Amino acid sequence: MDFGKHLKKLWYLDENITFLNHGSFGATPKTVLEAVAKWQIELEKEPVEFFLNQYFDLIRQLAERLGKILGSDGDSIVFVDNATTGINTVLKSLQSEFNKDDEILFTNHIYPAARNSVNYLCEKTGAIPMEVFTPYRVTDISQITEIIKNSITAKTKLLLIDHIFYTGGIIAPIKEIVEICRKNESYVLVDGAHAPGMIELNLNEIQADWYTGNCHKWMFSPKGCAFLWTRKELQEKTKPLSISLFHNQGYCKEFDWTGTKNPSLWLALNEAIDFINQFGLKNIQDYNHNLLIKGIEIVSDITEIEFKTPVSYFGSITAFEMPINIQIDNETTHKLRDIFYNNHRVEIPFIHFNDQILFRFSSQIYNEPDDYLILAEAVKTFCRDYK
Ligand SMILES: Cc1ncc(COP(=O)(O)O)c(C=O)c1O
Repeated sequence: MDFGKHLKKLWYLDENITFLNHGSFGATPKTVLEAVAKWQIELEKEPVEFFLNQYFDLIRQLAERLGKILGSDGDSIVFVDNATTGINTVLKSLQSEFNKDDEILFTNHIYPAARNSVNYLCEKTGAIPMEVFTPYRVTDISQITEIIKNSITAKTKLLLIDHIFYTGGIIAPIKEIVEICRKNESYVLVDGAHAPGMIELNLNEIQADWYTGNCHKWMFSPKGCAFLWTRKELQEKTKPLSISLFHNQGYCKEFDWTGTKNPSLWLALNEAIDFINQFGLKNIQDYNHNLLIKGIEIVSDITEIEFKTPVSYFGSITAFEMPINIQIDNETTHKLRDIFYNNHRVEIPFIHFNDQILFRFSSQIYNEPDDYLILAEAVKTFCRDYK
């Protein structure tokens, strides 16, 4: 498959920017954005007929279609606006079950918004947030499984675990982790914000209790399109954040209607899937992963930063430590992003993690090895000139 820079014209992405941050917000192709307008016009031709007689079937057909890609039947999948909403939906649904001193376990890689959601639930219920440390660099992926196994106790009511760590892109051994939770009779909620589209997924095989994922990162959907998968036995107790017209009329119906909204951001996932299908999902994933490996080699060679984790533990994002002594806080990460954008025309995120500043980069079908040369030179120049 002929991937590379020439495909950038399929997006509105600025040609003058080396765009290596597909991870933060994805990037939506032109055809998918056009489909948003198409769906909205379709709706507005006859809003009543659309919402009364077409909308629910369209959403269920889309869930079936998404389910085929994610290894799930459609009626375990409901749409939400983003992974943050997916996580909050589950925590809120569980709120009445939490007693004082129950524990919620998570790792130090947790996404900050999810950490806030856990802390909030703990404040409301008296439950205890338990953070477990897993190293930034792992040489054997079973280290993560072992750490979880050794940290889970009879008090662990829930584990919230990322499928792909936002900090550095490591893919967690999720099936093994789910099994540990099941044996311990702890709930497990997987934050798969980055996984759909980036890696092969089979939600039925994983059998978490809940799995939420974004379509707007690696599946090219418009922003505001994500899903929540719920194990059959737990669907009755899983309620949307907005209780609406179809309260207690079944998991799908309750989530499909949470009040009037613009459904074109969800429905244009159809065209995002068409976009993927013209190339083949596996071809995209293989290109991106192989390009990431090439990118790691290039960045490592030019910046002379050692990269110790096996490349097979990543999909299409990874991160390196900044090799200089630098103020370590969230403000610095923001400033660094602006400096790289303004001075080097490179778009990458900087992440404050474990008393280090990391720079993260992604690979996508509009990228080529040259992009990582530009990135590496920018890092080298910045570090040389930094005082
Ligand atoms: C691991 C992880 N979880 C959750 C989120 C939040 O995603 P959203 O803003 O789409 O809710 C992100 C965003 O980057 C993430 O990386």
